[in-house]
Amino acid sequence: MLKHVLIFFRLLRTGWVLIRHDALVPKEYAPLVPWPIRFFGAMSRVFSLGNRKGNAGERFANALEDLGPAYIKFGQILSTRGDMFDPVFAEGLSRLKDKVPPFPMTKAEDMLAAEWGAPWADKLASLSEPIAAASVAQVHKGVLKTGETVAVKILRPNIQRLMTRDMDVINMVANLAHKFVPHLRRMRPKEFVKEARRAVMLELDLRLEAAAASELSEVGQDTGLFRVPGIQWDLVGKNVMVMEWIDGLHFSDPSILTREDINREDLARKVIQSFLASTFEFGVFHADMHEGNLIVDKDGNLVLLDFGILGRLGDAEIRFEIDTLYGFLQRDYQKIAEVHFDIGYVPPHHSVEEFASALRAVGEPIFGKKASDVSMAKVLLQLLEITEIFDMPMQPQLILLQKTMMQAEGVARRLDPEFDMWEAARPIVEKAVRRELGPEGIINDFLDGLDRTRKTLETIPGATENIAKLAQAWADGEIDLSRPTAPAAQAPKQSPLRPVAYVGIGAALALGGAWAWAQL
Ligand SMILES: Nc1ncnc2c1ncn2[C@@H]1O[C@H](COP(=O)(O)OP(=O)(O)O)[C@@H](O)[C@H]1O
Ligand SMILES: [Mg+2]
Repeated sequence: MLKHVLIFFRLLRTGWVLIRHDALVPKEYAPLVPWPIRFFGAMSRVFSLGNRKGNAGERFANALEDLGPAYIKFGQILSTRGDMFDPVFAEGLSRLKDKVPPFPMTKAEDMLAAEWGAPWADKLASLSEPIAAASVAQVHKGVLKTGETVAVKILRPNIQRLMTRDMDVINMVANLAHKFVPHLRRMRPKEFVKEARRAVMLELDLRLEAAAASELSEVGQDTGLFRVPGIQWDLVGKNVMVMEWIDGLHFSDPSILTREDINREDLARKVIQSFLASTFEFGVFHADMHEGNLIVDKDGNLVLLDFGILGRLGDAEIRFEIDTLYGFLQRDYQKIAEVHFDIGYVPPHHSVEEFASALRAVGEPIFGKKASDVSMAKVLLQLLEITEIFDMPMQPQLILLQKTMMQAEGVARRLDPEFDMWEAARPIVEKAVRRELGPEGIINDFLDGLDRTRKTLETIPGATENIAKLAQAWADGEIDLSRPTAPAAQAPKQSPLRPVAYVGIGAALALGGAWAWAQL
């Protein structure tokens, strides 16, 4: 009971901070909500005078920054769901800054001593002041007794308690949204918050981050496309992670765009290919590929940092993504539609042909156009309508994949404005198609003791016929992957298939606020 009262008061505080930033019922969205909420919004706007700079997304981001670490983290996860918002809001929210003042050196020393059971000086020759501080952790530079330079990442003191407390509030907002806004149910607000909570809690254990780094390091070695700092396992604990220090140029450093010794085309290609190859070949990907987490080292290698979020795809999902990408490369909308039905993303009572036709309506107008000529807003809106018409539920793991693809594409394009995403993707996608659908793939299926085949068949009804058909086509020489296809030559620069839907998170929070108000 007491807990609920406390959560309720925190909910009020949350609502208040949002009101102060005109982010509870943002003026931009007022026309979309029922009149009592609109009225409430208009009244509440009195309190945000002088605090209304930027669009609704930016104001929401500012409010989350004021609310503290859990909200910042939640906002970051939310901003990965570009599918849920209109593009302007999503763009504003993506400017959320994860900058928090560092905690004092004495606290950092206490954390190290508690984790290592001895003063830090027993393990390290030196330790710097914090060089970077974010909502969950901060990083120091250190030197081991052996002389090796390392990065020492330390969790914020008490972060577990703080996160649990604030996530309870966010959870309550989601429950309210689920209860009072039927339109939002398709977005599964409760599941989303549960998923976000899980992701945040995973980030609060640096042993898991070290494990993720080590897993990706193997992928990097295997593909030869990127590198990951080596982990100093004997100094890793729940609250501390020690790893090789990477010297090099951060992608967030503006000089990366002008320096003569930097091969930007090559780096752009490596960013995209690293992401695609690890996804399609290993089913795992670094899901936070923004500039702050990327470095180019002295030898021109791409180095990935920060392994708080890994995305994972199962076999069926990998095959689905490959089919979809390849389908768009080939402009084969029927095929894309079929795989959506096969995997169950579109409920079976809909017509495959109608779905294919809807995809064609999105895909065709943007083929052959330069990315800069395509109105993303229009494409997103159209896809939103499709997902709604065809009752498609959101697929969190695929949304994370799409978001990372967009993020990686953005990084690559800033490095090299002429960058052709599809050209970079082609060798990886073709290799994957060959593996999945070619004779090798079929033989491998058998060699895997038929286990994988069984699993695949369980998840993809109709897969047997498709594989048989494709194998036949392959044998008949109808599939020639070495020859660039005409449509592919004018393929779009942006991935056109982004499951999209719109949610008025403001409306959800507004309802929460209104409800809280009514209880007073
Ligand atoms: N191994 C490393 N070598 C060099 N710098 C590092 C290393 N690890 C982290 N950093 C620096 O610390 C910053 C924050 O580290 P990161 O792991 O991204 O933490 P966060 O999860 O807080 O974003 C990075 O952007 C980078 O500047
Ligand atoms: Mg980072």
